[in-house]
Amino acid sequence: MPVVNPRFSVLSEDFAASPYRSFAWLREQAPVHYEPAIDSYFLSHYRDVKRVLTDHETFTTETLQVRAEPVMRGPVLAQMTGAEHTAKRKIVVRGFTGQALQDQIRAIRANTAELMDPFLPRGRMDLVNDFGKPLAVHVTLDVLGLDRKDWQQVAAWHSGVAEFITSITLTPERRRHCMDCAEQLEAYLVPVIEERRRRPGEDLISKLCTAEFDGIAMSDRDVTALIINVLAAATEPADKTLALLFKHLIDHPEQLAQVRQDPNLLPAAIAETLRYTPPVQLIPRQAEENAVFAGTTVPAGATVFCMIGAANRDPEAFAAPDTFDIHRPDLGTARSFTAAAQHLAFGTGLHQCVGAAFARAEIETVAAMLLPLLDQVRYSPGFRYRETGLYTRGPVSLSLDFTPVHESGRG
Ligand code: HEM
Repeated sequence: MPVVNPRFSVLSEDFAASPYRSFAWLREQAPVHYEPAIDSYFLSHYRDVKRVLTDHETFTTETLQVRAEPVMRGPVLAQMTGAEHTAKRKIVVRGFTGQALQDQIRAIRANTAELMDPFLPRGRMDLVNDFGKPLAVHVTLDVLGLDRKDWQQVAAWHSGVAEFITSITLTPERRRHCMDCAEQLEAYLVPVIEERRRRPGEDLISKLCTAEFDGIAMSDRDVTALIINVLAAATEPADKTLALLFKHLIDHPEQLAQVRQDPNLLPAAIAETLRYTPPVQLIPRQAEENAVFAGTTVPAGATVFCMIGAANRDPEAFAAPDTFDIHRPDLGTARSFTAAAQHLAFGTGLHQCVGAAFARAEIETVAAMLLPLLDQVRYSPGFRYRETGLYTRGPVSLSLDFTPVHESGRG
């Protein structure tokens, strides 16, 4: 029988309010924490998380059949293995590398300018709700080749899909709502897929429609699942990372000044943001056989949650892990967006984030445009910072004041 800790729960309000306060205790006192209400194990040590994410024989993504497939309307990349996984991952990567990436960066700049425009003369905006969230959806729609005029509708369906995947527990009503969103999103995508099969363009949906796997074109169901996969995977972590980057820089004015002076420091600041506050806090896996961690056996069939936030603050992996330091020597900016990343914000192993390099390009492009525009950037008077989310986590809002920019002051 697993040992239940009566003093601590990942599902408690205390933990939800501030998980970072508990990570050191978890690592030291409960490195294999069992959560009875959801019959799952939570691992917080860097070495244990790394082991789970790289031992693909013992720990599989079977959990996603229940956690993701119903709303993705088909199997997602993270569920696949072997040749199918490699081939389909490559097709997805083609959608945002090379020439496609250059075009997307141009589109990101245009999107940023358009969304910022109304806020510049006001000298105040909520970086999360006025800007970051719509921007991330616009960017993902552009990558996929979906019409931007539908963004609010797509964003609403997407949030139902995301709620399903990232909820630890769901009431039957919320489950129904999420399934409705997924069904409507699928119905919206079917005619788009038909159209791209007839008249392919340069977008990712066209690439998915025309690519072959094992000599056979992908079915509509496979294409739909991959579109929803990218929509869900690309949007939320990107907007959360942008907001967290600005929060940490505002909280560390000397580092903000350095980044302003030398925008080449931005990738280091983004990498450190991902280490310090990873927007994807939990990665689930299923143990296929008994596995022992720190003397505790996780039984075959159990769900294991890798606690990325705790692993990234493990002193065995990073010196002074609770300090935000864009100059830290143990992170390595150049590799932070590759398979060799030291931090675990993109996961690691076979299923490591396929969009890591794109995410870097997106956040760097946007931040490099915002920093010079947001002169004297600071929290608005009376603003109270709050974060939410167990699975994905980020600021609820980020109300910022800055020196108003009038027409003549814009480059
Ligand atoms: C800062 C932004 C991002 C973060 C922190 C992030 C994080 C992650 C993590 C932790 C995983 C691993 C999940 C697992 O092992 O089960 C993942 C997978 C994935 N991500 Fe990202 N992601 C980001 C941006 C993006 C973007 C922009 C895209 C697409 C353009 C994307 C597409 C994907 C896909 C398709 C997968 C599944 C890969 C596979 O299973 O082979 N992500 N991401």
